Amino acid sequence: MPTANPCAIVIFGASGDLARRKLIPALYEMAREKLLPENFALVGYSRTEMTDDEYRKECREAVQSFARTKPVDQQVWSRIEKATYYISGEYGSDESHKKLAMKLREMDDKYGTAGNRLFYLSTPPTTFEPIINCLGRCHPHYTSADGKGWQRIVIEKPFGRDLKSARDLNKLLHTYFDESQVFRIDHYLGKETVQNLMVMRFANSIFEPIWNYKYIDHVQITVSETLGVGTRGGYYDKSGALRDMVQNHLFQLMALVSMEPPTALDAISIRDEKVKVYKSIRQIRSQNVDDFVVRGQYGAGEANGAKTAGYLKEKDVAPASKTETFVAAKLFIDNWRWSGTPFYLRTGKFLPQKLSEVVVRFRSPPLTLFQKQCESPVYPNDLIIRVQPDEGISWRLNGKVPGGQMNIKSVALDFLYKTTFNVEPPEAYERLIFDAMVGDQTLFIRGDEAEAAWAVIDPIEEGWLQSKLAPEEYSPGTWGPKRAQQLIEEDGRRWMHSGDQAEPIIACSL
Ligand code: BG6
Repeated sequence: MPTANPCAIVIFGASGDLARRKLIPALYEMAREKLLPENFALVGYSRTEMTDDEYRKECREAVQSFARTKPVDQQVWSRIEKATYYISGEYGSDESHKKLAMKLREMDDKYGTAGNRLFYLSTPPTTFEPIINCLGRCHPHYTSADGKGWQRIVIEKPFGRDLKSARDLNKLLHTYFDESQVFRIDHYLGKETVQNLMVMRFANSIFEPIWNYKYIDHVQITVSETLGVGTRGGYYDKSGALRDMVQNHLFQLMALVSMEPPTALDAISIRDEKVKVYKSIRQIRSQNVDDFVVRGQYGAGEANGAKTAGYLKEKDVAPASKTETFVAAKLFIDNWRWSGTPFYLRTGKFLPQKLSEVVVRFRSPPLTLFQKQCESPVYPNDLIIRVQPDEGISWRLNGKVPGGQMNIKSVALDFLYKTTFNVEPPEAYERLIFDAMVGDQTLFIRGDEAEAAWAVIDPIEEGWLQSKLAPEEYSPGTWGPKRAQQLIEEDGRRWMHSGDQAEPIIACSL
């Protein structure tokens, strides 16, 4: 492991939900794992008036409630707490930023943070521009190459809401920062199984020869959630599932599954390959959008004990909103490897299970010998990459049921992180904050990568504006609108999870 240099982290949006639930607990876990540098300071920045002590108390409570490992080691936490400070100010105020700059110089003297700063933007997207401008005007912005300490900026999603706004944001960032200083977060890339996808593909020789259109029938990517939009209606109603989930998390999974082997495992080579994937995705013409993409909206009902009066009744949602809370899409990657292989993607709120999973479905054997004796077809092989929960990988094969008869059943060979390594995988943010501290951009989105992903999304959004089909209502606790089932079933395939019975034991009589 490289060691993180001394640094101060500044969290903009310090009193927000993400900071409380994820960022502060991640810093604690990093300290516990000895991944936080000895010379470290934390400065929270947000609009809420608070003293240093009040902020420390807030952070302490956040760690108590959300730390991954319990009980909390008070000695570890108190080390961070002693170096924690707070500044309240408007995000676009030069005066407040100058105060921040002064505080950071104080931190350099007191904690030896050596001029190194990690500015973490955990704020709504409307604040990005004022913060970036202030960072540019009021703080030095050296790269590590200058030898005067480094300044890096970490940006939470959404990174723009279309191609144009993503380009504008990139341009603004590049006014003050070199691309090597910009860390655009997609927390899915910090998840252990997502990284394991690369290990699985490129550290094992059995996959590469069959990883193409000749052997793979199709790929399914499902990211389902059991909750609704909760208190985030204001943000979500302007975004929708396509922008909120597909453009980033699902596309990242798709890119890692489908990209060509990189020439090296470094940030440039890996991100080059992902950009090529986005550029190869067949563009969906706006007029054909409903043939390839289905949108849904949850109605009133109940799922997993959570009740809702329906999306349209959620707080801060427009009463006649057409924003989708579910999306299913059929995409093609037009390159040599994937020619004609559909990638089915779906995500939604208020679905029956919280699940993030990639299913690679292989073609059936060319001659299904057993079919002659079976009424139902032998089930195709699946490779299931489970990102959450129960992180791991599972192979679905056909096996003979013991006994005198030739009965075949789909069986699973499972690799589970928890039981194999006897550890809970770390939270995505622990890995990502550490990588930003050591300057490794591999698990962050490059500027051109964000733009290439938006270029796929824009025609779909445009198509929806023109489409006569409104989002189809679905009941909470189901796998989304009926049209989402049809999207895949009309191709003679079906979703791995669809509410139907699991595949039956195939009984064959000899
Ligand atoms: C966020 C989205 O990026 O990811 C949320 O904005 C979503 O709408 C969340 O709930 C899902 O993340 P995870 O890690 O819980 O799958």
